[in-house]
Amino acid sequence: MTSPAKPGPLSRRHFLGGAVVAGAGLAGTSIARAEPGKPDPLITEVQDWSRYLGEGVDKRPYGTPSRFEKNVIRRDVSWLTASPESSVNFTPLHELDGIITPSGLCFERHHGGIADIDPANHRLMIHGLVDKPLVFTMEDIRRMPRQNRIHFLECAANSGMEWRGAQLNGCQFTHGMVHNVMYTGVPLKLLLAEAGVKANAKWLLLEGADSSGMNRSLPIEKALDDVLIAFAMNGEALRPEQGYPLRAVIPGWEGNLWVKWLRRIEVGDQPWQAREETSKYTDLLADGRSRRFTFFMDAKSVVTNPSPQAPLKQKGRNVLSGLAWSGRGTIKRVDVTLDGGRNWQHARIDGPVFDKSLTRFYVDFDWAGQDLLIQSRAIDSTGYLQPTKEELRKIRGTNSIYHNNGIQTWHVKANGETENVEIG
Ligand code: MTE
Ligand code: CO
Repeated sequence: MTSPAKPGPLSRRHFLGGAVVAGAGLAGTSIARAEPGKPDPLITEVQDWSRYLGEGVDKRPYGTPSRFEKNVIRRDVSWLTASPESSVNFTPLHELDGIITPSGLCFERHHGGIADIDPANHRLMIHGLVDKPLVFTMEDIRRMPRQNRIHFLECAANSGMEWRGAQLNGCQFTHGMVHNVMYTGVPLKLLLAEAGVKANAKWLLLEGADSSGMNRSLPIEKALDDVLIAFAMNGEALRPEQGYPLRAVIPGWEGNLWVKWLRRIEVGDQPWQAREETSKYTDLLADGRSRRFTFFMDAKSVVTNPSPQAPLKQKGRNVLSGLAWSGRGTIKRVDVTLDGGRNWQHARIDGPVFDKSLTRFYVDFDWAGQDLLIQSRAIDSTGYLQPTKEELRKIRGTNSIYHNNGIQTWHVKANGETENVEIG
């Protein structure tokens, strides 16, 4: 018999401030249905929005969501980091549908705040083991052949708080360090070809122009394969938070490599052993050794609805929804269980299935009001099956922060409230 794990040492209620779960449960939430002989004033009486003229076309030169969507925002966890300039906030996955993350909701991770760069003054330098060191302006880059591709970016620290047990109560916080947008940019291999890479070149150093000057070493094979130097996301210029005017797109690999505000690429014959690949973004194993240069983001999935911030409201017909992704290819199948793993069914994948992109899945189900233990597991095009958290811990120990792609469990209670738990 499976049972939910006890809450960890941190109080989840404290964490959520009570605001999110308030109003959960079944009372008073039944769907209004037409009843003969009972007129509905929302239909029979003329409402204000039908009575008065609305705002004209010039009121919103750059559109924003309806005022009734105020809850759909990025959120941070105040006690997670010491300062907001070196911090992270999270994508509200439970409020979204389809596969594209709206630009204003993409999670942000900065090491030195958001650089405020005039594109006219931005330069990208390529030097080191090249025949001809080059400096590109944004105008130079915009005159080169460009490509459009949809890819997820996941921080290697996504789900990092969950290594030792269920912790944060909401998929925004457990899984929200991921976003998925369409990038427009120039293949890095074209820029490198202009500079002429020397035969002994093996690694590149990518460096940002922000106050942290964040840098990472990248193997040249990846750079010559599918890396884009992007200036647009979702059809418009990159947002300042996402690296305006230029960022690296490293499909399927950990978010830390996707250097924002990209200003310099040095070509070398070995990795630089930068801070972010020695003291950070390494995985400390139980025996004291560390895994290093663990670039790939392995297959992962999460049920976004229901979830702690999006409880079930109504018995009967319901839609379970979620996201799956793999840094090694496409999502082939997603399995979902409602009873803690006794029975699994194939989820219905809907919408486009792109390489190294978020993929949307659904299970349309009837809920009789019983407790549910919901899990999803992704299978990618290499045949890899998303592991359980226990399977991960057997190999990786419990020191880790990064690369936690274990199966998530949500416990839906009889009143619809939903909690982050582990079963075993
Ligand atoms: N690039 C620079 N220049 N500075 C940074 O702080 N953060 C990295 C990466 N690139 C960072 C950066 C990390 S750890 C991640 S996960 C991604 O950017 C986050 O990208 P996002 O802010 O678009 O979500
Ligand atoms: Co990161």
